[in-house]
Amino acid sequence: MKEQLQEIKKRAEKEIKSTDEFAKLKEIQVKYLGKKGEITQVLRSMGKLSKEDRPFIGKLANQVKDEITEIIDKRKEYLEDLEKDKRYISERIDVTLPGIKPVISQLHPLTLIMNEIKEIFLGMGFTIADGPEIETDYYNFEALNIPKEHPARDMQDSFYITEEILLRTHTSPVQIRTMERVAPEVPLRIIAPGKVYRRDDDATHSPMFHQVEGFAVDKEISMGDLKGTLLTFARQMFGKDLQIRLRPSFFPFTEPSAEVDISCVICRGDGCRVCGQTGWMEILGAGMIHPRVLEISGYDPEKVTGYAFGMGVERIAMLKYSMDDLRLFFTNDLRMLEQF
Ligand code: FA5
Ligand code: MG
Repeated sequence: MKEQLQEIKKRAEKEIKSTDEFAKLKEIQVKYLGKKGEITQVLRSMGKLSKEDRPFIGKLANQVKDEITEIIDKRKEYLEDLEKDKRYISERIDVTLPGIKPVISQLHPLTLIMNEIKEIFLGMGFTIADGPEIETDYYNFEALNIPKEHPARDMQDSFYITEEILLRTHTSPVQIRTMERVAPEVPLRIIAPGKVYRRDDDATHSPMFHQVEGFAVDKEISMGDLKGTLLTFARQMFGKDLQIRLRPSFFPFTEPSAEVDISCVICRGDGCRVCGQTGWMEILGAGMIHPRVLEISGYDPEKVTGYAFGMGVERIAMLKYSMDDLRLFFTNDLRMLEQF
């Protein structure tokens, strides 16, 4: 029986050490040490032994049982370590690998242009004013001397909320709101950037677009001040050698009124496809603030004068970036936006 126990131990040890699986280990444990296991069988058959042999064999059987248990435990530990090592290797982080560059967002091209426009005017002593995008008929039209029958008031051209409230169609109402607040104090030098809305939609017209209003009121403001200011702006924005041109035009809230062109930024005035061979490009509307508008806002038109202008920011951006479709600004195509 002694030999039998030693043979069992040898066999068990061999089996244990050749397995790599926890399930198999459990099976081996049952096979040798379980209720019907080989060692248990030996212990059960001890009744057949002589009284003298019994304690010796019993002791030996228990010893073998303990040894096998220990070998199993060791193997289990070994397999657990092995598994850990495997996991450590597969999950190891190589801190020397180059990282994944995070995507950093950037300012929208219209924001860049808007900031540039603001910087230029702030540098000339202007301050920034604000007004609501949801505006009353009074500020958007009436106070700007735009009569009831003016086409701009048509339901087809503007987004009305009620008959008296609409999305502002230009930034000019900020003129009135600011003058009302400040009059009769002078001087006033203000820019008012913001969103405006019209029922337009094509390659050069968007239903939502941006304008920058600019205006000045003081004792002896003249058309020359307007022209000098706009020339300074255009040259800082587009280049030193640029010319501007004032063409007679009409706005109900300025008198006289002008459309302001810059010499074409593509051909520098020689005439090309972009400027329609004229050598000029329109960038804004402007004029001397109408005496009625000054009066309505609390100024005495006999004592002060003022100029005003309103530029389309998308148009400036299109000229600056040589783009032929303004809708690109609003379609969120990253291939376009990432160029700025
Ligand atoms: C005006 O809005 C006047 N308030 C400008 C003004 C201010 C004149 C102060 C005199 C004194 P106008 O409708 O022309 O004018 O628009 C001004 C500019 O906005 C245009 O030159 C153009 O650049 C731009 N613009 C007009 N409609 C759209 C549109 N749908 N999409 C993009 N830009 C537009
Ligand atoms: Mg116009």
